[in-house]
Amino acid sequence: MSAQNELKRQAAERAVEYIQSGMVVGLGTGSTAVYAVRRIGALLAEGRLQRIVGIPTADVTAREAEVCGVPLGTLDDHPSVDITIDGADEIDPQLNLIKGLGGALLREKIVAAASRRLVIIADESKRVDQLGTRAPVPVEVVPFARRPAADYLTSLGARVVERQRDGRTFITDEGNVILDCYFPGLANPREMGQLIRAQPGVVEHGLFLGMATEAVIAGARGVVVLER
Ligand code: A5P
Repeated sequence: MSAQNELKRQAAERAVEYIQSGMVVGLGTGSTAVYAVRRIGALLAEGRLQRIVGIPTADVTAREAEVCGVPLGTLDDHPSVDITIDGADEIDPQLNLIKGLGGALLREKIVAAASRRLVIIADESKRVDQLGTRAPVPVEVVPFARRPAADYLTSLGARVVERQRDGRTFITDEGNVILDCYFPGLANPREMGQLIRAQPGVVEHGLFLGMATEAVIAGARGVVVLER
């Protein structure tokens, strides 16, 4: 395992300690969150956790959970989620986030909004002083609106790139496209989030503001827990 993956695993496994038997648990998506899913599966197999219901934030996460033996439910049956453990692409000092480089931002935000606790797990490379300085802001858009939405996002100061995968347009689990918006940093992410949402056809953006309750961050000098 690479040193960075080892840090991702450490952060994920520390966060899983917050889970108690009987909880409804939001299962995040990405290369860090997968370690949490695997750890939950291992604890269930050992009997150290019981009666967990996982709410997956992506089809790929649901498949991983099934492989790991984590029972799954839906927000229809479990509209209130006790805790969600998920990764992030950028984390600022106030625990505001950019998420969605894995393409699951819409379901991730829906599950996060339904959660009493949103625990973000990451290696220390994800910490930034200002959002938008390293990662683009992913914006999920219905395909019909991709051109006017791209023009609008450009007018907000972004360099807009439609997300591709394997040489084709990336399509989300909800059937939409993602426009990655590269800004030269975001001095006011809340205002930018509102501006982005104002465009018809924009379904959601990857700015998660005031949502994370904790961040568990692993670095060379150990694991730290930041609270909002
Ligand atoms: C998925 O859509 C994303 O929000 C991920 O949570 C985020 O991109 C972090 O992914 P990694 O843990 O793979 O860096």
